[in-house]
Amino acid sequence: MSVAKTQRAQKRQLGQFLTPQPLAQQLVDTLSLSINDRVLEPSMGDGAFIIPLIEKFMPLYTGSVEERLALILQRNIYGVELDETLFARCLANIRERWGELPPQHNLVRNDFFREPFFTTEYPVAATNGAFGVSLFTHIIGNPPFGGTLDPAIQDELDKVYGFRNGEKIKKETYSFFIVKSLDLLAKNGTLLFICSDTFLTINTMRGLRRLLMSHGEVEIETLTQFSDETNHPMVVLRFVKRGCTDRVIVDGEQRLRHQIELTDNFSWRITDDHARYFDGPKLGDYMIASSGMTVGKNEYFVRKIENGMIVEPYEFEFFDDPITLERERERARLGKLSTSQIEKIKRQAAAGLTRRNVRVVRRAQPVRIAIPHPDYRYYNKGTNAIVYCDPTHVIYWRDNGDAVLTFKKNGNWYLHGVGGQPYFGREGLTWQLIAQNLYIRYLPEGYILDSGAPCAFLRAGIEHDELYFILGWALTNLCNRLLKEVINHTKNIQGKDFERLPYPWWVPEVNKQAAIAHVRQMIVAAQQGIRYTRESAEIRQLEVMYAFSETAHCITPAPVLPVQAALFVLP
Ligand SMILES: C[S@@+](CC[C@H](N)C(=O)[O-])C[C@H]1O[C@@H](n2cnc3c(N)ncnc32)[C@H](O)[C@@H]1O
Repeated sequence: MSVAKTQRAQKRQLGQFLTPQPLAQQLVDTLSLSINDRVLEPSMGDGAFIIPLIEKFMPLYTGSVEERLALILQRNIYGVELDETLFARCLANIRERWGELPPQHNLVRNDFFREPFFTTEYPVAATNGAFGVSLFTHIIGNPPFGGTLDPAIQDELDKVYGFRNGEKIKKETYSFFIVKSLDLLAKNGTLLFICSDTFLTINTMRGLRRLLMSHGEVEIETLTQFSDETNHPMVVLRFVKRGCTDRVIVDGEQRLRHQIELTDNFSWRITDDHARYFDGPKLGDYMIASSGMTVGKNEYFVRKIENGMIVEPYEFEFFDDPITLERERERARLGKLSTSQIEKIKRQAAAGLTRRNVRVVRRAQPVRIAIPHPDYRYYNKGTNAIVYCDPTHVIYWRDNGDAVLTFKKNGNWYLHGVGGQPYFGREGLTWQLIAQNLYIRYLPEGYILDSGAPCAFLRAGIEHDELYFILGWALTNLCNRLLKEVINHTKNIQGKDFERLPYPWWVPEVNKQAAIAHVRQMIVAAQQGIRYTRESAEIRQLEVMYAFSETAHCITPAPVLPVQAALFVLP
């Protein structure tokens, strides 16, 4: 790897997006500090917050600069940084600014999660006898976002920080940083963190949002500009540990707990305007969503259909692969095997046991195959088509996918599971996983499912027409707005996000029937070659059909535009 690439990889791994000095200064300015305060910066980088913090404490003391600096760094400021270079730079920045660094200070180079704050090594803890007692009156910083936890301790950390108040806390650097910081924060203490804005809505951060609300007051402020190093939207989280609260403030507006609770993801983005849609059943009451599978190596098994044909460059041969410890270790999660597993594998290897495997062999000459073909099934890859699109890919699926499933079984641990398998072949709806909007379409029976296109299927006992009604709803701007503003505004639209959307319970029956007929007609038209976009008149018409009406009065939909042949080929 080149030096630049290694640096980029390290930067990503440690979530190193440093705070510009003026922003750090601005946040420190908002704190009111006294000489009795203890402030922690848990991932101090090169000192963006440490420098203005020292400046802020300086006028609170008397004496020479050296004396004051020594007192501040012994009594008031604590910092941790994992990266050696940034840590050294932080100390150098202090030296440069004040001419020296006192020999005793509480700035340490360590992993925040390995730092044992409640021990006698910490003078404050020792003098207060503060074992197990929250230590810091203020915790401030910009915890690493999207970084990786040390694999050697991540399972341990998951046990300590991965579950609070009956909810899972996402195993991720910044969520665990927040949880550990909350543990370390004194009663009435303030935490001030720059965070990714994703944590306001995404479900995996639901546990963290609940935890924060159960411990104190939360205020969120969107940062219009964070840093030139990243264009990821960021927010400032200001938290005061004052006990359970029934509201959060987001950009100056109150978000009430009872409205937040209407959303399954405990969204902090719900407003009064959104709340009415969520006050009823959700799509998950009608449909069950599922992701698809990851093949591991599409090139081996997935083919693009062109003019009804595919080109097959491979053949697949099954063989018996000897079991070895080395290979089993490679396949294990994080390369770890328990002692009993190792013993078992050694016994299997000694006995000459084998594992059924598949070999992918390049043909001397690729063959052209007409589709449909009994050895291949349609493969549902994500696309930005809406309403319906013809199959674009197939997957080699002779003997119920024996070759693909054997390949996955022999791959590394993350490939072993087959996502969505119980739903393979079922009729439903599907959309592109990574997209700004729901690019959603009708999925006919018979497909094998790919992870890039999550799907949803009617629950048992739900009328078949609901499929069309829900497809129409998912194509409206209103539904997309609720998805992006309340459920999950990242580019990832998971099955659970879909299930958390409101079901359009407010639509009167007559509009519902019109919407169903309209959507069925659009599917037929799309099957005949019409390509819809979100701007198409037929799609815009849906907006009227699904509009919210307090009195649920009937709105006569505009006439459906004629399609080439009004022949319903659908069930
Ligand atoms: C987003 S940067 C912020 C740095 C600094 N707080 C600032 O605002 O400029 C995150 C910092 O966390 C450090 N870091 C990452 N993982 C850490 C860990 N487990 N313990 C301590 N520091 C860590 C990174 O090296 C990086 O300096």
